[in-house]
Amino acid sequence: MSRFCVAGSINIDLVTKTSRFPKPGETMYGESFHTFTGGKGANQAVALAKLGADTAMIGLVGNDIYADDYMAYFKKLGVNTNSVKGVETSTGIAVIIVDGDGENNIIIVSGANAKVDADYILSNSDIINDSKYLLLQLEVPMDAVVQAAKCAAESGTRVILDPAPAVPLADELLKYVDIITPNETEAEILTGIRPADEAGFASAGRILIDRGVKTAVMKAGSRGAYVFSDNMLTHVEGFRVTAVDTTAAGDTFNAGLAYGLGAGMPLMKAVRFANAAAAISTTKAGAQGGMPTLAEAQSLLDTLN
Ligand code: RIB
Ligand code: NA
Repeated sequence: MSRFCVAGSINIDLVTKTSRFPKPGETMYGESFHTFTGGKGANQAVALAKLGADTAMIGLVGNDIYADDYMAYFKKLGVNTNSVKGVETSTGIAVIIVDGDGENNIIIVSGANAKVDADYILSNSDIINDSKYLLLQLEVPMDAVVQAAKCAAESGTRVILDPAPAVPLADELLKYVDIITPNETEAEILTGIRPADEAGFASAGRILIDRGVKTAVMKAGSRGAYVFSDNMLTHVEGFRVTAVDTTAAGDTFNAGLAYGLGAGMPLMKAVRFANAAAAISTTKAGAQGGMPTLAEAQSLLDTLN
């Protein structure tokens, strides 16, 4: 029985580093090029595995060299890949530009991820039912996301949804969600409010609860997170680090949150743990490069005690 199950995307990230983003029509020279493992779903699974969690992945890869490499890497980390299969197309790709401030721009070519459908989820529902937490994001088709959330809700598995990349969502999905974790942009798309201050986060949080989720944990980058729960807003301060690459900080946050809750931490403590894990993840290049071990996350937390 896996404690954590992640259903979602598996991408290879093709990352170019440059001083600034090119303007439309401009040709410029970059500083470096690297190939990294990524994808919002796989990033969450890898972050959980690095923390030492018992983790299963549900997803699809293509029939290329990237697929073989990724499968070998999952196995090395101890991620359960019984529900990851190869299909006749390309593995998901993300073309990423990172600028001098560590900010990123991303273009995704879905490939195999586009073939993750409701039937595929249903054929792997056992692993969802047997898990304590199901982590979802939005880089696979919506019918698959809804099906996975439904399977989880019906079997008492708790659902943590990262509503990224930002798209509008149906209440049909939100009613199955225990915790939703939007950033400011995603919160605006889901609520019509772009939260800038505490009042804004409270209003956005209230709307998310009205739409059916049980708890809203709104990510605010280096400022940490704003939690709307039990009709109350709580700010959980972030950690100050020197960011090299913020890619997948959000994915690491979600993994940290799930890990913390799975380890029995109360919600605010789990959010603090998630803030620490996410902060550390930005200190190294690549989506998964900086993802911390449990000891690394713990030592950042200890600096404040
Ligand atoms: O959240 C970061 C991820 O988004 C990257 O790893 C990339 O694959 C994109 O899907
Ligand atoms: Na990183």
